[in-house]
Amino acid sequence: SGSIPDSILDIAPVIPVVVIEDAETAVPLAHALVAGGLPVIEVTLRTEAALESIRRIAAEVPDAVIGAGTILSPGDAARAVEAGSRFLVSPGSTPSLIDAMAGTGVPFLPGVATASEVLGLYERGLREMKFFPAEPAGGVPYLKALSGPLPGARFCPTGGIRLETACDYLRLPNVGCVGGTWLTPADALATGDYARIEKLAGEASALRRS
Ligand code: 3PG
Repeated sequence: SGSIPDSILDIAPVIPVVVIEDAETAVPLAHALVAGGLPVIEVTLRTEAALESIRRIAAEVPDAVIGAGTILSPGDAARAVEAGSRFLVSPGSTPSLIDAMAGTGVPFLPGVATASEVLGLYERGLREMKFFPAEPAGGVPYLKALSGPLPGARFCPTGGIRLETACDYLRLPNVGCVGGTWLTPADALATGDYARIEKLAGEASALRRS
């Protein structure tokens, strides 16, 4: 029930950031995350298996909203969308990268860590972005401080966030959702422990702004 959210930030409280070493794990992994209540999945382009994993999830897990992270170049953006990515995430926001991501036609979250970078995105008409690396860059107090002069920016903080700290971010008015790798531990993926991943996703999907 309900309408489809306009923004990738408004679908689930947490976007799992996943590093997939073996494309054979991609579909069961995506099923586990969706079953746990986290349908938005960011597969990072950090492994050989990433694009094939996106292809398989796009083809076989229709309830997932599959996207690509670690977009570092215009070529990455094009390859990720060609593979079936429905959104793109970058750790940074250079002009050529923004042009390339915008040119694909899918929603995207460029990365920022300073007020000047937020203003750079404002100049491009962009209001939604990734805050990276969230914890090292200053975390919750830093984002709270940015909301004073820049109340129109909405963030997906990522970098060092865990279940225990996610709720503090989600309480901020300028945070739509958070991202992180804690939902998909490498050892759980290596051993095929999808029940554990579904449980971690279930705990995260229950987080709500209070
Ligand atoms: C990212 O790549 O977006 C962050 O590094 C997420 O990783 P972490 O949750 O392990 O910090």
